[in-house]
Amino acid sequence: MDKVNIGVIGFGYWGPNLVRNFASLPNARVRYIADLSESRRRHAEGLYAGAVEVTPDYRRLLDAPDVAAVCIATPVRTHFGLGKEALEAGKHVFVEKPLTASVAEAEELVALAEAKGRVFMVGHVFEYNPAVNKLKELIHGGELGRVLYVAAARLNLGPFRDDVNALWDLASHDVSILNYLLWRAPEGVSATGACQLTPGIEDVVFVSLFYPDGVMAHCHASWLDPCKVRRITIVGDKKMAVYDDLSTAEPVKIYDRRFARQPYLDTFGEFRLFCASGDIFSPRVDAAEPLKIECADFVGAVQSGRKPRSDGASGLRVVRVLEAAEKSLRQQGARVVIEPPAGSQPAGG
Ligand SMILES: NC(=O)c1ccc[n+]([C@@H]2O[C@H](COP(=O)([O-])OP(=O)(O)OC[C@H]3O[C@@H](n4cnc5c(N)ncnc54)[C@H](O)[C@@H]3O)[C@@H](O)[C@H]2O)c1
Repeated sequence: MDKVNIGVIGFGYWGPNLVRNFASLPNARVRYIADLSESRRRHAEGLYAGAVEVTPDYRRLLDAPDVAAVCIATPVRTHFGLGKEALEAGKHVFVEKPLTASVAEAEELVALAEAKGRVFMVGHVFEYNPAVNKLKELIHGGELGRVLYVAAARLNLGPFRDDVNALWDLASHDVSILNYLLWRAPEGVSATGACQLTPGIEDVVFVSLFYPDGVMAHCHASWLDPCKVRRITIVGDKKMAVYDDLSTAEPVKIYDRRFARQPYLDTFGEFRLFCASGDIFSPRVDAAEPLKIECADFVGAVQSGRKPRSDGASGLRVVRVLEAAEKSLRQQGARVVIEPPAGSQPAGG
């Protein structure tokens, strides 16, 4: 089968990782890199001189008949305009996360991709992370029992952004992971935060997500913290699991710890809670690079016509949560209901 020719728009911090991974796939070829910045173009030329055409004008790759797919790794507010032009030019499109800056924009792009019959994907890279998929296996295989709540922390000192806040930049990862793990989207959200460095841009946010069946999740996201933390704790009624993305050797640990109810022997009908504590176990987790699996999913989808895992609809579900959380932030944490359109829940199974 012919290789899929790809044009990448945006070669800032994240774009080089995408180019490296697409270039490493046997069924893909990066033909163009577009970036407005001269220094980023020089950097791209230094890495890929002769193999890739580097241009300041993204239209060059939209007009190229041999480019089948476009990857957009530019700031969030540009995703809608670039995504729309790329789809209108008949390209398959991969957009970095979060999909767009609003639900209306995401809906328009999802509908346009559908109408054009093009693959449309968002870069929710954690859905391709083998440790996250191990958690999914544990939850859906019943090993943890009924999920009671999930707590996520994504903290560090920087990198600071001035185009979006920590909700859209950092918590977007956790919302995508939670929707993926719990196989559904939340029904409500409450968010608070603080703008300590740049007026109007929250550098720290605390987001509570209310999933169906009383499952609650909490995300603490900050680029104003002394310690780098990338951790998700899942508390089930049989066992508990902790995913630490910074631990390469043992990213997932399963704690055989739970509470149990025991009747008081001397009082009829009353119970006391006690804790049961067993082993701590680290399951084997593949060391594969999540971004490479993600890029391969996109290219495979372009070649086969199937939907990729983190398709436009899943990106839209995340934006729906982020927009509701942003509304809650502006209302000092008031709970905001998230109305899903009919049939929009992630597929189960
Ligand atoms: N999946 C992840 O883990 C991850 C990590 C970091 C960033 N991202 C996402 O990647 C995207 C880019 O983030 P970044 O950190 O690389 O930003 P960045 O600001 O470092 O780079 C963006 C680049 O896009 C270029 N650009 C902007 N508009 C352009 C246009 N019209 N034509 C050509 N070039 C243009 C800029 O010159 C810049 O070099 C964001 O959506 C971000 O959320 C994802």
